[in-house]
Amino acid sequence: MTVDKDFKIAEVDKRIYGSFIEHLGRAVYGGIYEPDHETADEQGFREDVIKLVKELQVPIVRYPGGNMVSAYNWEDGVGPKQDRPRRLELAWRVTETNEIGTNEFMDWAKKVNTDVMMAVNLGTRGIDAARNLIEYMNHPGGTYWSDLRRSHGSELPYNIKTWCLGNEMDGPWQVGHKTADEYGRLAAETAKAMRLVDPTIELVSCGSSNSNMPTFPEWEAKTLEHTYEFADYISLHQYYGNRSHDTANFIAKSLDMDNFIQTVIATCDYMKAKKRSKKTINLSFDEWNVWFHSREQDKEIEPWTIAPPQLEDVYTFEDAILVGSMLNTMLKHADRVKMACMAQLVNVIAPIMTETGGGIFKQTIFYPYYYTSVYGRGIALSPVVHSPKYDSKDFTDVPYLDTSVVYNEVKNEVVIFATNRHLEMPLQVDIDIRSFEGYNVVEHVVLEKDNVKATNSLKKEQIKPHYNGESYVQNGNVTTILPKLSWNMIRLNKR
Ligand code: AHR
Repeated sequence: MTVDKDFKIAEVDKRIYGSFIEHLGRAVYGGIYEPDHETADEQGFREDVIKLVKELQVPIVRYPGGNMVSAYNWEDGVGPKQDRPRRLELAWRVTETNEIGTNEFMDWAKKVNTDVMMAVNLGTRGIDAARNLIEYMNHPGGTYWSDLRRSHGSELPYNIKTWCLGNEMDGPWQVGHKTADEYGRLAAETAKAMRLVDPTIELVSCGSSNSNMPTFPEWEAKTLEHTYEFADYISLHQYYGNRSHDTANFIAKSLDMDNFIQTVIATCDYMKAKKRSKKTINLSFDEWNVWFHSREQDKEIEPWTIAPPQLEDVYTFEDAILVGSMLNTMLKHADRVKMACMAQLVNVIAPIMTETGGGIFKQTIFYPYYYTSVYGRGIALSPVVHSPKYDSKDFTDVPYLDTSVVYNEVKNEVVIFATNRHLEMPLQVDIDIRSFEGYNVVEHVVLEKDNVKATNSLKKEQIKPHYNGESYVQNGNVTTILPKLSWNMIRLNKR
């Protein structure tokens, strides 16, 4: 492998390390918010959760959905709590108490030092609710909705910059599901009205719910016909699973993600050419993760309960390996993927798990997310890689070595994220770092485990990194040994 500072992809937009909190399951109630918990602050937010979210350095959090937003009345969640209605929440068929709404969430976001990416309801509602919401959130005062916000205790506007124009509107499961033309028209007109309220915002047009949708990528092409001049980003969502327990195939699924990204870029650029536009649409991969463990048990949930445990996947070691590669994939596309949200953040398909009334623990996937978020900031470089390859059920030519590289000029640091996909053998990697003279290994963090199905729990963290990785520099080359099936971070520094 060769790493050179001139092989630049782009500056990494830190927002690719974003996450997502939906009013779903125990993400909000019993997750970020639990007023009776021993660590609850004066507003009822769990401080043990705040601490771990801050550790992850999450730069942006998408809110309030997800599927939930497509039937959500944002007005239900503002104003005096005793006046807020309980509603049937249709996406997940639970009862929403509205105890937490927009203002409380903005307070929480401030506590964890994150920005908010807010989604508007384009399922049951549309232009009117969206323009009122942005007036409530971003207009300084002197009008009905902005003064209402001030009367609710937020004197200053929130100035939310990034807004999603609905959620997964291509999906037949979505309340208010639309055809591409129906969505495209509504999204364009909603965008226009929102921009009239606040011209400084950035907007995300809904892309496909996943790359297997029968309408992909026609959905992107048709919707962009309408939204191209109004939107700045198009969204991508993708979750992977391993129901067939085929590890070699599962950990190769980041190749599918790569293909998905390339296809969306091609579609955006086709539309750019067609419209003779000077503007480039970038990508917001605003839902991504592994999700399949909890699907069966979620069918047992009693309808209309309040905050039941839903989508509570308990992640395995092999899930963490794939998550590491999904992060590598986005870094490799840092020139076009400018935002991304690991879905989700707490309890619901999440890196952080809590027990209601009890403790907290880090899931296996916490670790690749943590290290990539904290150390993967700077310029994404494109390494030249020669790796042996394998074939799996769905993929051919899967490189055993999956890697991404970030150069942090300010810190004089080169960070190599590297996965060895080989299930049996370690991989020796020889890295020519020719333009990084005088750099030495600071640390080599390794995530490895013999049992690919090993998980973490409140009682025991079976999966956590160790710092005994084997890497050394000799004559301007780094030699590193990646243990069999492992995720690694090799940090080089010049002092
Ligand atoms: O993240 C869980 C769900 O997955 C979201 O609500 C939806 O947008 C997607 O289908």
